[in-house]
Amino acid sequence: MKHRSYRYEKILERLIGAVEMDIYRHGDRLPSVRQLMATEGASQSTAVRVLVELEARGLAYSRERSGFFVRRPAGSKKRSLEPAMLDIPRPTESSQGPHPVDVHHLIQDLFKAFRTSDLLAFGAAEVAKNLLPTAELTEAMKRAVRVHGPSIYKTSDPHGVPELRRAVAAFLQRRGLLVSETDVLITAGETDAMAIALRALTRPGDAVAVESPTFFGILQEIQEAGLHVIEIATHPTTGIDVDELIRAADDNKVQAVVLNPTFENPFGCCMEPYALRAITDAMNQRSIPVIEDDVYSDLNFRNKPVKALASFDFYGNTVYCGSFSKILSPGLRVGWCVPGKHADVVKDIQLRRPTAVSTLSQYTLVEYLNGRRYAKHCSRLSDLFLRQRDQVRKLIKDTFPIGSTATNPEGGFLFWIEIPPPFDAMEFYRRALKLGISIAPGPIFSVSNRFDHCFRLSVGAKLTPEIRNAIRKLGKLAEEIVREMATSPCRDAKG
Ligand SMILES: Cc1ncc(COP(=O)(O)O)c(C=O)c1O
Repeated sequence: MKHRSYRYEKILERLIGAVEMDIYRHGDRLPSVRQLMATEGASQSTAVRVLVELEARGLAYSRERSGFFVRRPAGSKKRSLEPAMLDIPRPTESSQGPHPVDVHHLIQDLFKAFRTSDLLAFGAAEVAKNLLPTAELTEAMKRAVRVHGPSIYKTSDPHGVPELRRAVAAFLQRRGLLVSETDVLITAGETDAMAIALRALTRPGDAVAVESPTFFGILQEIQEAGLHVIEIATHPTTGIDVDELIRAADDNKVQAVVLNPTFENPFGCCMEPYALRAITDAMNQRSIPVIEDDVYSDLNFRNKPVKALASFDFYGNTVYCGSFSKILSPGLRVGWCVPGKHADVVKDIQLRRPTAVSTLSQYTLVEYLNGRRYAKHCSRLSDLFLRQRDQVRKLIKDTFPIGSTATNPEGGFLFWIEIPPPFDAMEFYRRALKLGISIAPGPIFSVSNRFDHCFRLSVGAKLTPEIRNAIRKLGKLAEEIVREMATSPCRDAKG
């Protein structure tokens, strides 16, 4: 069902592109239902739906017994080619069953490379320093020291200082979460919140369902907690396949779910309210807790705030985790967790952890969040990343091998790129490092070896000529690798 609707969108998009590029002129006959079935592998109902939709959009008209024809008044505007002509990747599939996780070594190696300062960093999902509000944070820190005096250097309540818990509770209202200060726990970043939640809700050996591909930090925490993972089919624009997730739950394969439904890392997709509601209802009925990972929601390209999955959960079954790492500062290490009905066990685990959050960091954020600074900063960053999104996609289209696909994120600054085979993302990663450029290779986003032809490009910086040039170099390198692999004797020998 899902695949059919995806095919429908692709065929429709292609035909619209062809009309707008004048490949089909006004009055030309469009491919018939039978031709679309033969050339696109579409079912009859999909082919009919495409043609009817074109007519509904005013781009075609039908003549009885003759088929569909292009309607395109002379002088109508041509659409720009770029975004439409770069396809988005295909939806992924679920893994067979729960797998043990063993990603530490690979990820540790990559992180060593990400930290090398003279690299052009497309590997780590971070916003460039010059786009972070460092001067305002420094002012806020000075104010915090003035207000609190030497006590700011002491440890504070292990669940967080009340003022910050209150400020985060107020700020979560925009995500549809009506919570108060005592519902919020301050953590050492989102990773700490997720680690606490996993320990509170699972036992070693349990299986956790995740999107596929998923952020490798989630896989690391799952490994750390001695859990297994089951990867669920995910669509690059609509997110995790809800039916598949429920099926895995019904097959007793899942004891907890970790989701990143708003501008997912790495797809940048945003799940719709009806799907979020379906997940919270289904998981509550099956008593399966959900952990929501939400660090990109304020880098939003839609014109209105998007609601958190937890806001559709009327049972308190979702542990909602977030942080300021992507938007204000990864180094302050401040995140939060709203544990809902799991509060007692989550608080208990937090008390037993050694990771207290710096009082200075917390009061700095209290000062910073007082006023409109945060909202203005988020809107500036979101505007920039939205403006750059099509430019990045155009660069990818122009420089990567023909047939490459890339996501079209609805928020954030991450792009998932698939290169047609033969391509080896690890080889690409190693050779890019030699050029002084880092990327995040696809294999680290899964435990089932499924993304060796993909990689994530993080563009959390201004698209300067240097950055553009580096993306072009990556495209050239990808071309080279595809060419070399296609002609390598070893490949020929294998047939
Ligand atoms: C989806 C997602 N969750 C969590 C994190 C980590 O957040 P923090 O630095 O606050 O631990 C990241 C960082 O890349 C991320 O992309």
